[in-house]
Amino acid sequence: MNHRLRTAERASRAAGKLLCDMLGSALGVRSKDVRSNLVTEADTASERLIREILTADFPGDAILGEEGGTSGDVRGGRWIVDPLDGTTNYAHGYRCFSVSIAYESGDGLQVGVVYDPMADELFSAAVGAGAQLNGAPLHVSARSDLRDGLLVTGFPPIGADDDLDNLRVMGRFMRRAQAIRRDGSAALDLCYVAAGRFEGFWEAGLHAWDVAAGALIVSEAGGRVSDYSGAPLRVDCGELVASNGLVHDAMLEVLHDRA
Ligand code: IPD
Repeated sequence: MNHRLRTAERASRAAGKLLCDMLGSALGVRSKDVRSNLVTEADTASERLIREILTADFPGDAILGEEGGTSGDVRGGRWIVDPLDGTTNYAHGYRCFSVSIAYESGDGLQVGVVYDPMADELFSAAVGAGAQLNGAPLHVSARSDLRDGLLVTGFPPIGADDDLDNLRVMGRFMRRAQAIRRDGSAALDLCYVAAGRFEGFWEAGLHAWDVAAGALIVSEAGGRVSDYSGAPLRVDCGELVASNGLVHDAMLEVLHDRA
């Protein structure tokens, strides 16, 4: 599995360099399903590069990518790739975005790498082997009282008529936690929980490519990752709560308005 981790690290660094090189250039920004769901030339170029690197080392592996969909036979496992998490930030030159690459086998997530090229921060984890930031061990925070917690959330791209349940949830968290942020890259939000910078993160409407790598990194950094009911996360389930573990139950209470 170490080979897969090293390959994912190499691919994420290469893609991160490409994103930096293309930042601010003509991006060919267009909308996908709804107007606010963007894709740029950088997303597709980054995914093409990552697929080339993964396939060169592991020609038989299936790959799910945000832009290219699934290729290969997923029965043996799959790579899960977000070539540019934080596309809206990127398109505006707001320097909060990342590359996210995970490998999942039948036994669950095995490897996760998230790279922030602007900060040159590479977050990584292999199951059972802990999490690292640029090679140094990574740990969640020790704050146990939600009132002392800095939390982060996100909003999926929505259409004009979609409901905004999360605004009500956010209002409840604003009253219960120290402060709330909304940064725009779910993969980085998760890594910041793993690094103890945030105590917790919640969001609904996410995709496997947004969360797969970061979820493993949080778990391996000593945190907890679940769906909104508190059950262990399945990366395709669409909703996620991640925390340092200590504030997790309190977050679930707030989510369900039981606090
Ligand atoms: C988005 C980011 C954002 C989250 C959205 C995602 P993308 O991913 O992770 O933080 O709030 O739900 O869609 O589209 O930039 O890869």
